[in-house]
Amino acid sequence: MVVSFFLGLLGALSQHILYKRLHHTAPEDPEKRIRLVLYGRALAYFSKITFGGCVILCYRQRIWRTFRENVLSVWAIDRLFLATEDLSLFLHWETWGKATLPTLMALVIWLIPIATIIMSPGALTFGVFIQRDTSSLSVPTLNFTAESYKDYRVPVFAKDGTTKKKSLIFVNTTDPSATAPGWFDYYDKPASDIERVSLMSAYSLKNQSLNREDARYRSCGGDFNCTYTISFVGPGYKCEELAHGADDDKKLAELGAPFNTSYLAPVGRLAYFAQVDIGEYLRPQTELGRQGVPLNITNDVGVFKTEPILWIGYSVNTTDPPDPRFKDTWTSKYDPYVFQCIHHETNYTVQYNYTGPFFNTSISHNFLAPIINTTYARYDNGIPNYQDFVPASGFVSPRTDVPLYKKTAVYHAVGQSLRKFLEGKIEVEPPIPGPATYARPYSDITKTRLVKSNSFPVHNLHIELQDFYADMILSLFSAPNLLVIAEDRVEVNTTRYKAAFIYDAGKLWGCYAPVIFFTLIFLIIGAWTVWEDGTTFSVGFSRIMVTTRNSTLDEISRGACLGNDPFPMELMNTRLRFGVLTEGGEEMEYIGSGDGLQGLSHCTFGVASELTAIKRGVPYAGLKYTGPKYANNGLGSKKEKME
Ligand SMILES: *[C@@H]1O[C@H](CO)[C@@H](O)[C@H](O)[C@H]1NC(C)=O
Ligand SMILES: *[C@@H]1O[C@H](CO)[C@@H](O)[C@H](O)[C@H]1NC(C)=O
Ligand SMILES: *[C@@H]1O[C@H](CO)[C@@H](O)[C@H](O)[C@H]1NC(C)=O
Ligand SMILES: *[C@@H]1O[C@H](CO)[C@@H](O)[C@H](O)[C@H]1NC(C)=O
Ligand SMILES: *[C@@H]1O[C@H](CO)[C@@H](O)[C@H](O)[C@H]1NC(C)=O
Ligand SMILES: *[C@@H]1O[C@H](CO)[C@@H](O)[C@H](O)[C@H]1NC(C)=O
Repeated sequence: MVVSFFLGLLGALSQHILYKRLHHTAPEDPEKRIRLVLYGRALAYFSKITFGGCVILCYRQRIWRTFRENVLSVWAIDRLFLATEDLSLFLHWETWGKATLPTLMALVIWLIPIATIIMSPGALTFGVFIQRDTSSLSVPTLNFTAESYKDYRVPVFAKDGTTKKKSLIFVNTTDPSATAPGWFDYYDKPASDIERVSLMSAYSLKNQSLNREDARYRSCGGDFNCTYTISFVGPGYKCEELAHGADDDKKLAELGAPFNTSYLAPVGRLAYFAQVDIGEYLRPQTELGRQGVPLNITNDVGVFKTEPILWIGYSVNTTDPPDPRFKDTWTSKYDPYVFQCIHHETNYTVQYNYTGPFFNTSISHNFLAPIINTTYARYDNGIPNYQDFVPASGFVSPRTDVPLYKKTAVYHAVGQSLRKFLEGKIEVEPPIPGPATYARPYSDITKTRLVKSNSFPVHNLHIELQDFYADMILSLFSAPNLLVIAEDRVEVNTTRYKAAFIYDAGKLWGCYAPVIFFTLIFLIIGAWTVWEDGTTFSVGFSRIMVTTRNSTLDEISRGACLGNDPFPMELMNTRLRFGVLTEGGEEMEYIGSGDGLQGLSHCTFGVASELTAIKRGVPYAGLKYTGPKYANNGLGSKKEKME
């Protein structure tokens, strides 16, 4: 019983270990997959045999106790002996009533295969699960510092050794051979690539940057979905709202804005107005000779004195009724806003999220410092002088700090690519006295997502503009041959849907727990019964043969000795018990015929009136008894028979 129980435990445990090892693996070979599943079922079958075997042994132990304690009909005795192959045991009140425990045990014997063979393999399924991983991968990032050390005379090659890496700027020089004393290179204009990328990004109308087609595959390190975060330093526009509403002009005047809200509807006739080229770098810088070399190299050649501030005003058409002041021209309230944006060196933190065929980015800015820290000079009367900038210490010259100059030039070029979309205006005509007209755009901004389909700029333009610019910068990733594209190792969180074995340990133990629980209980009951009875029992033919040596039974069963079916009903309903045949009567004669058996009663099935209870430790005829009497008797009776 005990060995059987522990073998069952071992089977369940082996099944658990096998399934655990299969969890989240997927053998390529389908044959092997099937074989592994069958191994699991074989273990389940093994558990069934061993747990079932244990309960059956306990059951056999227990039914003899029941036969001793209760008077049962031959029907019920039959059923109890046949419990493991005949379900009719459970249909009789007599067995439930008088042999409750054995009937329960038999029920468990029947239920064990359901839990083990049928249910437990269900803990292992083949399906799709989300595989999550974190790995350190090389992902594209931007490094504008790389431009600082770029000399157009020296080609820079990509890692593969063939593709040339392109700069974002074109430069002119004072000496193409780079030999003349005091020679320097100076900024000319944005390179074709940044022009192309900014144009595509601006015109794409998507609320998203451009990217390479195979970006997900490359960045995620294979066919995965992934998220990761990069950070880099680049140019960014820091925008600040300065005026909201007609006549809110105080701040604008203080800062030397080139226009005020009176330009915008409802006072003026503009829905959008941008002044973005004050202090723009001149092209050409000076009179040029052959190969773009300046004829007369002044101190100002190539110097960045300022980054043009973006002065942008726009008016939003609300659905509210107009102010009384403007009632005779407008039918709705127009809300003018003016903001400025200053070009800053910016620390970007960008989270890339590649999911399926798409990706999205969430960008956060941390503005570090203005790229060129100068402002408008003022005339004595306080009016800003848009031709001059102060302080001169803020200028960035190509002669002194070349790396700083080149980086500034690249920032300037990127900003310049944005500014060309912002220049211009959008005019609106008041509907009164009419006739009604449409807004008239004179700006490329209407080709971007910053303007809605009705030709009015979007709400919160100053926020949208920052993101628009950031998207334009991230769109550089769509041109992998640029010098600013670098690689960085970052932690990439990858997820992938993977088909594999999935093991649910809870399900497996959910099946085995009741089996183990009941088997253990019955094992304890069985062991207890063995100890109480002082012997073990079995149900083979031999045991039936020796336990029915009773002439009363001979009498009762007269005429039914063939064991035929159907069996006489009367006999089936006879109520019997297992016990010690009381002394006296013909049975005594029969038993007592052997000389050595004198005084030893024997155990048998019989009618209740002729039996007494079996007691532990009492030697009975037929029961194993190692005393001398019994041993002699065995030989003696044999001898007698032979005689
Ligand atoms: C950017 O490039 C420069 C020059 O190639 C290099 O010195 C620097 O370490 C790079 N910075 C990052 C963050 O990769
Ligand atoms: C706004 O600009 C207009 C035109 O340049 C000017 O006449 C007006 O005085 C300005 N308003 C303020 C408050 O500065
Ligand atoms: C650079 O040189 C080209 C001619 O080679 C000229 O057209 C251009 O204006 C020059 N750029 C600057 C900023 O002087
Ligand atoms: C402004 O909004 C009002 C009310 O929604 C509408 O009647 C009017 O046509 C709009 N004006 C323009 C120029 O779209
Ligand atoms: C990535 O994008 C998908 C789909 O837009 C979203 O369900 C998921 O939560 C995002 N993951 C992260 C880490 O933001
Ligand atoms: C990526 O995520 C999408 C959406 O959740 C899913 O349809 C797709 O199968 C995933 N791709 C991979 C390779 O797991």
